[in-house]
Amino acid sequence: MGEPFEQLLSQRTSSMQRNPIREILRALAQPGMISLAGGIPAPETFPIEDLYRINETVLDRYGPAALQYDLTEGFAPFREALAGYLATKGIDADAERLLVFNGSQSVLDTLGKILISPGDVVALESPSYLGAISAFSSYLPEYVSIETDDDGIIPESLERVLDQHKVKFVYLVTTFQNPTGRTLSLRRRQEIAAIVKDRNALVVEDDPYSDLRYRGEVVPPLQSFAPENTVYASTLSKIFAPGLRLGFCLAPPLIREWLYIAKQGADLHSNTYAQALATEYICGGFIDKQVPKIIDLYRPRQEAMLSTMARHFPQEYRWTKPEGGMFIWVEGPAGVDAEAVYWKAIERKVAFVPGKYFYVDPSDGLATMRLNFTRVDEAAIESAVAALGAVLKEFGAN
Ligand SMILES: Cc1ncc(COP(=O)(O)O)c(C=O)c1O
Repeated sequence: MGEPFEQLLSQRTSSMQRNPIREILRALAQPGMISLAGGIPAPETFPIEDLYRINETVLDRYGPAALQYDLTEGFAPFREALAGYLATKGIDADAERLLVFNGSQSVLDTLGKILISPGDVVALESPSYLGAISAFSSYLPEYVSIETDDDGIIPESLERVLDQHKVKFVYLVTTFQNPTGRTLSLRRRQEIAAIVKDRNALVVEDDPYSDLRYRGEVVPPLQSFAPENTVYASTLSKIFAPGLRLGFCLAPPLIREWLYIAKQGADLHSNTYAQALATEYICGGFIDKQVPKIIDLYRPRQEAMLSTMARHFPQEYRWTKPEGGMFIWVEGPAGVDAEAVYWKAIERKVAFVPGKYFYVDPSDGLATMRLNFTRVDEAAIESAVAALGAVLKEFGAN
């Protein structure tokens, strides 16, 4: 006999599971642990002081409207503000075409709901954002992987995947990817735009990190090269406050219509008050002061991590040197089991995420690790990375 009510569960739950990273990260609660594991902003980046003023403005300007039920597509002044913000990235978005969601995670789930029938094929870069895999998996797809290198997905691999499979959509994090930190190069964006246009394929471009650039040239979103073939999803989680759950997307008309219908059935609309706060955060110029402050906090943390890795990691290890974002991706030599490294590192009070969780087939990523540099200060990063280097040396490399 199974658990009571087990027979009531839908077929869909067979492919759903708790986030495995959350499960292994229980060790983080131990006192003295330095976490390079999370993927969350440093709390000191939240504009608490500004929010006192923004709050007042919202109440004065919008009054009860900020607390009322609102449109499914999102609070109109917020969509206007977002259209202006997206224009600075080279995205031509009028407010009418934008849809606001509870975080970009909810965009991913809703896309899964409207696009994936059981057995449909979704193409992912390998490794890929775990939260997207969790969101899509509820709708029972099959996955195919697209090969990647330091410049992002390899166009020939994308072509092969599109030619060999009936792909519903291609999911990409094009800039400072989670988990690798890699950015799809400008040339590849142009090539990939040509490929998807030629084959009439649909790309979901998930772009939460592009504002967190510490050096190098800005690269326009893939969306700007193939607007008719791209669903562009983004969020204010990394540049304002993730707890407000403010994501949004710009999609081709038919996809937009079905996202709208699905959202209406799911939650009617997103939090009006949070959207009003974000409107003033953008239109009052607070965002233009805050993003450089966030960058100034994170850049030295990333530099501290990279330079300590260069001093303490064994020679056989390779890692990315991203120009922005929140993560560095490490590849160990074949035979290293990063999960075993994880448990040894925990004994030395350092946590990270073993990279295998970001692969559809975890055996592809046994020797990989994701390190986050945004949560703790430079001194903590240096001591954690040095300790991790010592653990890696114990694992046989030197
Ligand atoms: C690539 C990627 N997409 C989406 C999300 C979800 O962000 P949100 O807070 O907007 O739901 C994250 C969060 O870490 C992410 O890394």
